[in-house]
Amino acid sequence: MKNSKNSIVKIFDTTLRDGEQSPGASMNIEEKIQIALQLQKLNVDIIEAGFAAASEGDFEAISQISKEIDKSTICSLARALPQDIKKAALAIKSAKQQRIHTFIATSEIHMKYKLNMSAQKVIQKAIEAVSYAKEFVDDVEFSCEDAGRSEMNFLKEIIDAVIQAGATTINIPDTVGYRMPHEMGYMISELNKFIKNRATISVHCHNDLGLAVANSLESIQNGARQVECTINGLGERAGNAALEEIVMSLKTRSDIFQVDTNINTKEIYPTSKLVASITGISPQPNKAVVGKNAFAHESGIHQDGVLKHTQTYEIMSAKDIGLEDAKTIVLGKLSGRAAFKDKIKFLGYSLNDDELNLAFERFKALADKKREIFDDDIRAIIAEVITQIPEVYKLINLQLSDCMNGVPNSAITISIDGEEKTDAGIGKGTIDAIFKTIDRISNIEGHLEDYKVSSVTKGKDALAKVIVKVTFDDSKPPVIGHGLSIDTMIASAKAYIGALNSYVYINKQKNIKVSL
Ligand code: KIV
Ligand code: ZN
Repeated sequence: MKNSKNSIVKIFDTTLRDGEQSPGASMNIEEKIQIALQLQKLNVDIIEAGFAAASEGDFEAISQISKEIDKSTICSLARALPQDIKKAALAIKSAKQQRIHTFIATSEIHMKYKLNMSAQKVIQKAIEAVSYAKEFVDDVEFSCEDAGRSEMNFLKEIIDAVIQAGATTINIPDTVGYRMPHEMGYMISELNKFIKNRATISVHCHNDLGLAVANSLESIQNGARQVECTINGLGERAGNAALEEIVMSLKTRSDIFQVDTNINTKEIYPTSKLVASITGISPQPNKAVVGKNAFAHESGIHQDGVLKHTQTYEIMSAKDIGLEDAKTIVLGKLSGRAAFKDKIKFLGYSLNDDELNLAFERFKALADKKREIFDDDIRAIIAEVITQIPEVYKLINLQLSDCMNGVPNSAITISIDGEEKTDAGIGKGTIDAIFKTIDRISNIEGHLEDYKVSSVTKGKDALAKVIVKVTFDDSKPPVIGHGLSIDTMIASAKAYIGALNSYVYINKQKNIKVSL
């Protein structure tokens, strides 16, 4: 039950910035826009869309997101440097609600070894950064990087200075995930007494010891009114606090927390699925709230209990996070466009005409081969369609040899910008032969860094989803490719070609990253 007297904890989502710092989670602009649109549906208060000065690709993504999103505040990260702040301000200038988030490290170890600056110099840089950001926007967040290992007296001194310079949110990151919940709680309670109502206190907890969510919750109990988090807990190293775990903890234990969030919890599961599908990083099966097994009951005693009364073994409802029964047969071969459109609406997506046509075409092709189409099949098709980038390379045909008794070989036809090219190649195994043949056709040699295959739903005729991570140029980061097909070999070829398309596309965006 919502109590109108409860105060609101703002949800600041940093999936597109800190989350993207997860190894292998880099996303292209179209993918970032789709995630931002979904985050808006989830009703997050603030979307940290990127770090504008990091690369041209980041700048462009933040600019596009600023044009598309009208409800959530759009924020860009910036180091405490004038050129970073200017870039951030430029990138968010079309957003309805704009925020600049600037930061500088405040721990002894960071100031001495990383910044090589005295404490007084750090304060001066922080004041200059906040004052400059204020020239562009009212809403300025200041982060004391590595606050978790910073001296309390120094934190108070710098926080006082930046509030006077105009900072409206003070973020206390446990950058290296070092703090225990009671310590984090104590820090926030001390700072809360010091800051009073002069600014909103935020926390940003990393998960190095598996305590990011616990630390965030303890901070809320002690006065934090903004939490920074990511979908599926993505983020640098062991990740950030998981949005879904914080939100569902606050909701499920409202008797303890007595705060509300603005989150539409029914969008949690679709958001988690979209982020997993785009980044290729799926939550582990036993992950709280969104893991595949989070609502599965294996033991007979538990199943019996749940059938008699769901709350015997469930503290929250799967429906609350938007998890429909994935086994529900939704559509089949005979389903028409109207039924398909209805289903898409029911699942919470809104596609433009081109996307709808493409999704329907892919649905029909699948329905020809697969008898039962589940909600997750439709979600997988939609994720593929809405994140589609220009297909310079397109798979036209794939033939494979008898891989058991001969040398595995493949013959492939690919259309390159509309012109078909065919070649054949051999490999140590069938997948190797497919990828080598694609290399021959494209004349670009890729190194496979990672290959994952999973089934979207159950059954022998389940859709196979293949995700590959490929390096095409040693001086550039690897790219991700996705492939979806009822046939694992075709899904593999599509994924590899998808990575090739991503490589071409990212090169066009000149996506060269600056590290934090
Ligand atoms: O972990 C951290 O300290 C950060 C800051 C830039 C907020 O990500
Ligand atoms: Zn961080």
